[in-house]
Amino acid sequence: MTKAILILNGPNLNMLGAREPSIYGNHTLDDIEKACEKKAKTLGFEAVCRQSNSESEIVSWIQETNAKAIVINAAAYTHTSVAIRDALLSRKLPFIEVHLSNVYAREEFRHHSFLSDVAFGVVSGLGVEGYKAAIEVVSQHIK
Ligand code: DQA
Repeated sequence: MTKAILILNGPNLNMLGAREPSIYGNHTLDDIEKACEKKAKTLGFEAVCRQSNSESEIVSWIQETNAKAIVINAAAYTHTSVAIRDALLSRKLPFIEVHLSNVYAREEFRHHSFLSDVAFGVVSGLGVEGYKAAIEVVSQHIK
């Protein structure tokens, strides 16, 4: 059976393409998910892609996943969610935190993440390429 990597996208990322393109670019969520699926496939993995605006749904997906690793853009929940941090810690799965934009070049409230110190790695500011890099690195780790 092909090993899965769970690709989680948080609130407002369903609006990519239309949402602040000067910050987030013109790619849609569908473009990102297709790029993740393609990248994972070339590495012999399956990307299982999910997006939600709901913190509780994201927590449940982390709790229930059969994936071997997680790539997560928790979006605004990065900066607020102890619940998503606790869910990730409860599963002990390696995860990489991804942000399309460079959060450190933006408002100060985006500089703090509830996930970074327990993440396998963090990618910020590389757009769609960041997801692909995260899949590549985490797939080597779980091989
Ligand atoms: C984001 C950065 C967050 O600060 C923001 O709330 C998002 C997207 C990014 O991908 O750059 O919604 O995670």
